[in-house]
Amino acid sequence: MTRNKKSMIDLRSDTVTRPSEAMRKAMYNAEVGDDVFKEDPTVNKLEQYAAELLGKEAALYVSSGVMGNQICLNVLTNPGDEVICERDAHIFNYESGSPAALSGIQLFPIEGNYGVITPEQVEPIIRPTSAYYMPRTKVIEVENTHNRGGGTIWPIENIVALKNLAKKYNLFYHLDGARIWNASVATGISVKEYASHFDSISCCLSKGLGAPVGSIIAGTKDFIKEAFRVRKAWGGGMRQVGILAAAGLYALQNNIERLKEDHEKAKYLAERINANPNLEIDMKTVQTNILLFHPKTISVDEGLKRCKEKGLLVSVGKIDLIRAITHLDVSFEEVKKAADIIDEVFV
Ligand SMILES: Cc1ncc(COP(=O)(O)O)c(C=O)c1O
Repeated sequence: MTRNKKSMIDLRSDTVTRPSEAMRKAMYNAEVGDDVFKEDPTVNKLEQYAAELLGKEAALYVSSGVMGNQICLNVLTNPGDEVICERDAHIFNYESGSPAALSGIQLFPIEGNYGVITPEQVEPIIRPTSAYYMPRTKVIEVENTHNRGGGTIWPIENIVALKNLAKKYNLFYHLDGARIWNASVATGISVKEYASHFDSISCCLSKGLGAPVGSIIAGTKDFIKEAFRVRKAWGGGMRQVGILAAAGLYALQNNIERLKEDHEKAKYLAERINANPNLEIDMKTVQTNILLFHPKTISVDEGLKRCKEKGLLVSVGKIDLIRAITHLDVSFEEVKKAADIIDEVFV
């Protein structure tokens, strides 16, 4: 067994998962070639598999979720353009100002409800094309599931309604689907159906799906051709990267359906948190694998410190909120233990 031992129950993120033995075997056995020449058979297989799964003409393997989102935005815009997104969106809060730094574009964030924004909110802020002195609205962005919203799922009607608005104004529609797999197993709506509404989609292999590295972006052939160029320009052209792509392919083929277990673990933990009078959790947000809860008696930092002393790692969600995320490297038994530790800490 090659996996390193763990001593803590780590619920800081679903990115902390380590490749399983079977995944490592797939990596070991991967056929490789130079992917910058498009000659890595495993990367080609992963991209083809992902494109079919997402129902798009083509897909591209990229190093991370941030790179995926940023390449998509770069391809869809020109410097000076504007992208409308929700205020808690990952692209606005956690991507190091890359829209401005890498693409010369600005974001127009608006406050959503559990991460969801509506056409009624978006339509009035679309810039009139006649106003040459204003930025040009070019993209509407959606994040599903919504990380800072607490793993919340965008209702499909909202996705469709905003798509229709985007169409009406000739705007592109981008999905940050880092955890689209979680939305899909929770609702029963296929990832293909979700992706069908968007021009571009970025989705992570390295979160709940358990691959060590990588994301997929998908769209039309022309879109991916341009994305391939941008990936290279940004130093993202990797060579015999089939070794990593094999883990991504394994993840897509084996680890999607099991996300349901992570949702069950999250639900159990949420119910335990909800039963603790010293904690506050909005049960409406408990939809997938992310939990956000407020400690009433001690600060978030103190809560994190005391949990850590007892063997549990959790992280800061938003101001005044602790975040816990379930994933495939934490068993149901460990989640029960985590709930016990939380009850011991927040008394
Ligand atoms: C919604 C969302 N989008 C994008 C990303 C970025 O992914 P990465 O950390 O692989 O760059 C994350 C990471 O947590 C995320 O939660």
